[in-house]
Amino acid sequence: MPEKLLVTSALPYANGPIHLGHLAGAYLPADIFVRYHRLKGSDVVYICGSDEHGVPIMLRARKEGVSPQKIVDRYHEMNKKSFADFGISFDYYGRTSAPIHHQTSQDFFRKLAKKNEFILKKEKQLYDPEAKMFLADRFIRGVCPSCGYEEAYGDQCESCGSSLSPKDLKNPRSAITDAKPVLKETTHWYLPLADYQKRLEKWIAGHREWKQNALGQIQSWFNDGLKDRAVTRDLPWGVAVPEDAARQYGVDVQGKVLYVWFDAPIGYISATKEWALEKGKEDLWKKYWQEKDTRLIHFIGKDNIVFHCIIFPAMLMAHGDFVLPDNVPANEFLNLEGSKLSTSRNYAVWLNDYLEKFEPDSLRYVLAGNLPESRDTDFSWKDFQARHNNELADILGNFINRTTTFIHKYFDGKTPPLAKLDKMDKELIKRLEKAPERLGSLINKYKFKAYVRELMDLARFANKYFNDKEPWKTRKSDADSCASTINLCLQTVCSFSVLADPLLPFTSRKIREMLNIENRYDWHDASSLSIKKDHPINKPEILFAKIEDSAVEIEIERLKSVLQSSENKNDKPEQKQSDLINIDTFKKIDLRIGEIIEAEKVEKSDRLLKLQIKLDGEQRQIVAGISQRYQPRELIGKKVVVVVNLEPVTMRGVKSEGMLLAAINKENLTLLSVLDDIPSGSKIS
Ligand code: 2FM
Ligand code: ZN
Repeated sequence: MPEKLLVTSALPYANGPIHLGHLAGAYLPADIFVRYHRLKGSDVVYICGSDEHGVPIMLRARKEGVSPQKIVDRYHEMNKKSFADFGISFDYYGRTSAPIHHQTSQDFFRKLAKKNEFILKKEKQLYDPEAKMFLADRFIRGVCPSCGYEEAYGDQCESCGSSLSPKDLKNPRSAITDAKPVLKETTHWYLPLADYQKRLEKWIAGHREWKQNALGQIQSWFNDGLKDRAVTRDLPWGVAVPEDAARQYGVDVQGKVLYVWFDAPIGYISATKEWALEKGKEDLWKKYWQEKDTRLIHFIGKDNIVFHCIIFPAMLMAHGDFVLPDNVPANEFLNLEGSKLSTSRNYAVWLNDYLEKFEPDSLRYVLAGNLPESRDTDFSWKDFQARHNNELADILGNFINRTTTFIHKYFDGKTPPLAKLDKMDKELIKRLEKAPERLGSLINKYKFKAYVRELMDLARFANKYFNDKEPWKTRKSDADSCASTINLCLQTVCSFSVLADPLLPFTSRKIREMLNIENRYDWHDASSLSIKKDHPINKPEILFAKIEDSAVEIEIERLKSVLQSSENKNDKPEQKQSDLINIDTFKKIDLRIGEIIEAEKVEKSDRLLKLQIKLDGEQRQIVAGISQRYQPRELIGKKVVVVVNLEPVTMRGVKSEGMLLAAINKENLTLLSVLDDIPSGSKIS
């Protein structure tokens, strides 16, 4: 019987794009795990979706003056697409605004109410008299009682990480109107977690194999003693508290919703139901959620540990119909260029932006090799460039390229035969035989960094084998040996297409196309020499083009300027001396007026336009990220401001020789132009 796995990645809030920190936490490791298990023949379902409730979404909607639904619609679609383009292979990507989710979470609440698992508490809570609403969680800001940070939220201090309740804050104020809140009486449902502590402790005691970060946090919650946890809120956005279930308590449910952390994890169940419906097998979700032989695995970031290891399991215990998680691999945080990621300050690398410029597999490789598995790690663009160029291109890409090129050059594109094997050949075969077991067991133990390292070591070994065997010499001196060497190199390339598939799915597909072996394969195929003599292969193609300095320097500069502008905002409104440039530096920038004479969309990009710009007696091609603002045809004939002495860069395979100036305010962008008509090529000074 194949192993049955239900794998989830934390549902990201649909109030912003996905960034690298998200990927390194809950998505890339899960995807590697799932892809490996699919190749191994396990029975896997991989579930995720958008978390569409909660106060941050409401705050964002208020800021933009639109409805919360509009916000979640926008980011649900955007994130679903970015994940797919990055190769995250969910079986289903749901959303918590779906009717089936509302139904499922209300049923969950009903069942707990019926079993008398809740307690009801009447108490005074902070209320905004101007906005006429209760101030839950992030609707309230004030001074953190632990560290004195002045912008702490009602549920958490982002500066010291303390978990708070709104009444803990000193000098509280409403995040909506800035008004001083008053206390007003309200009633809410609580889950008395203390009643579950013994059962939870016993259950966790059977999982000493979990990672230390989760076990450590769990233990500290146990040491403090679990407290009652409110599962409802007074808010206008969320899953409504079901009226029928509330009736038994005699409480008016008007304006009351389930707390987002009550409904969101139930989203794993409702999305599995939708997956089953989509497959036309309505009850199939039960096989994964209700049969004991399922291994349920939640991939999360460390800030979600308590919810997945204590609160949701307590909810599942209270309900009684569902399996409990078998493991909750949680990752620490990823920093960026030595500083903490911050979505509110735009200090992040956004996945949709990344995908406009670089290949998904490059980032998958670099991130997976640097996952914050046991401590925080740092992503830097220089490291990204170095690992792409020196490892993916120079080791793996080079080995594959030299093997396939050799076959085309000297064996007419057909696999040469295997003859007598020498010691080195046998060593390579032995390594291939052992690789699936070895690499697979690392993935299965959530040791993704070690898997990446060993995979690249195998490529290093293969390259060395090619060098040491010197087929370019044996071709003349010992034709049999040359044929064997190249045969084994090709078998190794084929094994790579399997072993690297969980990590580099796009590259693996390309390799298999190049090898003309597009058939189905499974993980253990990587241990055998499966390519037959005379098998014809297709023309080689370069798998990893080098990333130029200029491409990463733009990214580094952008991040530096974000840091600088937020430092300026926080610390000093006036210009810092070190930021000033002299006139000679400014004069180095060659700015010209250019006329747009052609404009078209860049293939497979939502943002980029390819423009032909006329300067004085010269034409330039420039790629600009403006397609969400301008239609190509409306740009023809427009005169714009062009930086002409910028180093060329390649975006999505299209060369760009310069940059257009634009004014940007939040999400609005407008190209700079001139008041009067002036010939193209005119210099700006
Ligand atoms: O921290 C977060 O981004 C939450 N949206 C994760 C929810 S995970 C699950 F419970 F849905
Ligand atoms: Zn604090």
